[in-house]
Amino acid sequence: MTSHTIESVSQEHRVFPPPEAFASQASIGSREAYAALYERSIEDPEGFWREQAQSLRWSTPPARVLEWHPPFAKWFGGGKLNLADNCLDRHVASWRANKAAIIWEGEPGEVRVFTYRELLREVCRFANALESLGVRSGDRVGIYMGMVPEAAIAMLACARIGAIHSVVFGGFAAEAVRDRMNDAQAKCIVTQDGAYRRGSVVPLKLQVDKAVEQCPSVKHVVVVKRTHNEIEMKPGRDQLWSDLVEKASAVHVAPALDSEHPLFILYTSGTTGKPKGVMHTTAGYLLGAYLTTKYVFDLRDEDVYWCTADIGWVTGHSYIVYGPLSNGATVMMYEGAPNQPDPSRFWQIIERHGVSIFYTAPTAIRTFVKWGEEFPNKHDLSSLRLMGSVGEPINPEAWMWYRKVIGGDRCPIVDTYWQTETGSIVMTPLPGAIPSKPGSCSLPFFGISPKVLREDGSEAGVNEGGLLVIDKPWPSMLRTVWGDDERYKTQYFSRFPGKYFTGDGARKDEDGFFWVMGRIDDVVNVSGHRLGTAEIESALVAHPSVAEAAVVGIPDELTGQALVAFVTLKSHDKPSKPLNAALMEHVANEIGKFARPKEIRFADAVPKTRSGKIMRRLLRDVAQGKEATGDVTTLEDIGVLARLREHEEE
Ligand code: PRX
Repeated sequence: MTSHTIESVSQEHRVFPPPEAFASQASIGSREAYAALYERSIEDPEGFWREQAQSLRWSTPPARVLEWHPPFAKWFGGGKLNLADNCLDRHVASWRANKAAIIWEGEPGEVRVFTYRELLREVCRFANALESLGVRSGDRVGIYMGMVPEAAIAMLACARIGAIHSVVFGGFAAEAVRDRMNDAQAKCIVTQDGAYRRGSVVPLKLQVDKAVEQCPSVKHVVVVKRTHNEIEMKPGRDQLWSDLVEKASAVHVAPALDSEHPLFILYTSGTTGKPKGVMHTTAGYLLGAYLTTKYVFDLRDEDVYWCTADIGWVTGHSYIVYGPLSNGATVMMYEGAPNQPDPSRFWQIIERHGVSIFYTAPTAIRTFVKWGEEFPNKHDLSSLRLMGSVGEPINPEAWMWYRKVIGGDRCPIVDTYWQTETGSIVMTPLPGAIPSKPGSCSLPFFGISPKVLREDGSEAGVNEGGLLVIDKPWPSMLRTVWGDDERYKTQYFSRFPGKYFTGDGARKDEDGFFWVMGRIDDVVNVSGHRLGTAEIESALVAHPSVAEAAVVGIPDELTGQALVAFVTLKSHDKPSKPLNAALMEHVANEIGKFARPKEIRFADAVPKTRSGKIMRRLLRDVAQGKEATGDVTTLEDIGVLARLREHEEE
């Protein structure tokens, strides 16, 4: 064991081959078919991508495939197209014109359906409305909304006119909106009076009012009326969406935009410092979102496809809006919380709308486990044929529960690994071609060349944990950090020059399958063993009483670092001393004595980011009895920290 590798302690050996019935109908139906295409994509990337790019609708086909001046990439130079045209007009010109594009269900229960033709008309109206406000190609538009259809319409309208959208998740408060709008120098913000969340109203317009006081660049605020709470409208600055679109024509000619025209900025808070504005451009991003949606979800015209992410995250961008719509899919979109009015809501939605593809996050799955299987068991989930997971390493036991309870032991699961920066899925099983191993994101998607490296840059051996990089450019990669090329270089390309560093630890097993071990900042060193906390958490989650676990390292005189585990129990279990001891033993048995936590604390919840990732940085402070340092604005529920401290004082 050398100090520059990460020791893998995972004991997972289960393998689930693609079900035959699934594989026989899948667009990529065998390991050989995958391997042939994959090899081609790596050996002749230019040829491969030139060919794949033909699946988009171009006004002017590209003259070049890739110009790579590390770390800056340009894809499909000389080409012109319009992303909204690819998502809408193209389908309206086909038999899909009257196919449902979006089936939307509001939290209070109403349903709205937009056909492709209707969605195009709404997008054109709002594109004209934005232009009437003076928004032009290249201008930045903030979108700070809940999960209403107008959020997708606003994004597509921006894409149509070439305005660069910057969506800010509706759970953020005024300061986060202000900072993001100022960094992007946005001209306009689209928002709502309020958003429904768990039965109450989140007053979004009020936050915008506070933010915009300190955003001199913002000249216009457009407000969708959704919750009808009282709002103030500032004359000259604020307009109602309904007033604007009422006056606007439903016809709009989509301009041809350069392949590298900036499409959106999406802020992602790294572990330190101010959020980075990850910038994506048009053609390469669209091709990545289109192709991955098509192959990873094995999409068919008759599918009802539901990704439960919020549009405020990249998953919502790529897999609610751009990926599925460019494929002409029927997209389910749900406004509210999974437990409104009770924990059956998601399963009701699947049953009511016949959802066939369901894509969610490990944090949600662990919550469903905690709530108990009686809720899904009350509903007919037989319409499902494929399920996905994204956002964090999925604990193998949560994976098994997902497969059994939600997927009826029938549906393949795609554990999709990617990042805001990668734009689209970079590692995943293809459901008809690649077997699944619970907890592994398996193999790279076409054109992606991931490597696990030691700190000296040499390639790690089989099952040796190291740093995950992608050593070739790919079409949907970020192009820069908005306004900060230097940060782009140092953040992603300085550790291993010319190679994109993901910030994650990973290992590759004897079958070439990748296992992501979590953020490299979360690695803990106990008595010389460098351990990824995700694997210890998975061992804890494998205990029948545990719903969720978060493990952090604290300084320890004897062992260098020691492990502290925060554990949330399933709803029918109660904290007790014997259970505490049993969990310690469980980890020692599953992994080894060296990994036995020094302390286990029971908690009703662990702190998470607003997108559901466990914030171990804050837990490290709690575990050491320190005040939380650094940025807490991305924390979903600030009360969790206070409750964890109260436990401490008991
Ligand atoms: O640590 C990895 C984890 O989420 C990070 C990216 O987060 P974000 O930019 O918010 O994008 C989330 C949606 C793509 C990664 O660096 N991550 C995401 N998916 C997985 C994952 N870790 C393990 N397995 C995954 N499937």
